[in-house]
Amino acid sequence: MKINENFLNLSENYLFSAVGAKASAFQREHPEKKVLKLSIGDVTCPLAPAVIAAMHRAVEDLAHAESFKGYGPDRYCYGYESLLASIAGSYARKGVGLSYHEIFVSDGAKSDLGNLLDLFSADNTVLIPDPVYPVYVDTNVMAGRRILFADANEGNKFLPLPDERVAADIIYICSPNNPTGAVYDRSGLKAWVDYARRQGAIILFDAAYECFISDRALPRSIYEIEGARECAIEVCSYSKTAGFTGVRCGYTVVPEELKRGGVSLNRLWARRQSTKFNGASYISQMGAAAVFTEEGEREIAANIGYYRGNARLISQCLKDLDIWFTGGENSPYVWMKCPRGMKSWEFFDYLLEQANVVGTPGSGFGRNGEGFFRLTAFGTAENTLEACQRMRELLK
Ligand code: MLT
Repeated sequence: MKINENFLNLSENYLFSAVGAKASAFQREHPEKKVLKLSIGDVTCPLAPAVIAAMHRAVEDLAHAESFKGYGPDRYCYGYESLLASIAGSYARKGVGLSYHEIFVSDGAKSDLGNLLDLFSADNTVLIPDPVYPVYVDTNVMAGRRILFADANEGNKFLPLPDERVAADIIYICSPNNPTGAVYDRSGLKAWVDYARRQGAIILFDAAYECFISDRALPRSIYEIEGARECAIEVCSYSKTAGFTGVRCGYTVVPEELKRGGVSLNRLWARRQSTKFNGASYISQMGAAAVFTEEGEREIAANIGYYRGNARLISQCLKDLDIWFTGGENSPYVWMKCPRGMKSWEFFDYLLEQANVVGTPGSGFGRNGEGFFRLTAFGTAENTLEACQRMRELLK
């Protein structure tokens, strides 16, 4: 028996586990200190009342023989029609038409971003922006794929554009970006779509943070760009949109016309999901179906507005301290330059020890993240305000 030795090429711990372990060790050593976490993007607002009510109704359905549900509907890879209708409706409002057969309900973006790689040969070359959400790199390292990086840096405002000299088969794009908060405009996304089509490549578009886009000129789905249906798969999630980090529900869109070598990727994904996945729970799906109702949208807008307020607090704090940053607008993440020329982990330790504030070291997101640091707006307003006060005091 041989193990998959590609795993030996991974760093020892997943980034957020490493950060969490350091923060917990500090708290254990200093139980009297109040440690404030602006690190992993985990939500703090309770679920919207419309979602809670829908989940209660779903529990009640499960309590009675007449309304009981077992496995979800086969026809749509275990997605319930009421949820598919609400997702299709939300895309229609962005001017994007989708059939129910193109929407695959999942338990979240992270799992689908990893699982989608089942569709592609290990011989493919992958192009990943650097810095980026570590799941893209780690899942490809696990499969032993060749990885190229598209450099994101201050010079290109952390929004790299395609380089025609680079040949790639699979391209990752995350906009609004995790970790930098940078957002592609239409022309930026169009450049990637055109490049992918010329290369015959597939874009895996991570739209997990699209709900934070308030600038109407910015695209919220890659399918707003002409030609994307022939080259892109879009992955989205209710985690940040509606606070489902613990509930778990998301969706992946695989357009019917997306084919390579004459084979439909939509068919392949349906085949993969029906074999290796049994659907998101009925209760999660019914909760999710309430998100894009009129009432649900109004309520989640209030939660998103709350996090936007936190992002403004962090941004203002950095402006006042004259520290360079991106994000914080159209994004829940603020990507700052470490002050006084510190390296990412050095600043992590400094901020934790001196201000008892936890963030995420930029170098954990890639080579180009060295010297940068990510703060999240998903905490409570009280903790965010206090963390900003402590940073102002420490870094003035
Ligand atoms: C993050 O902090 O980058 C996210 O919460 C991680 C995730 O969504 O898996």
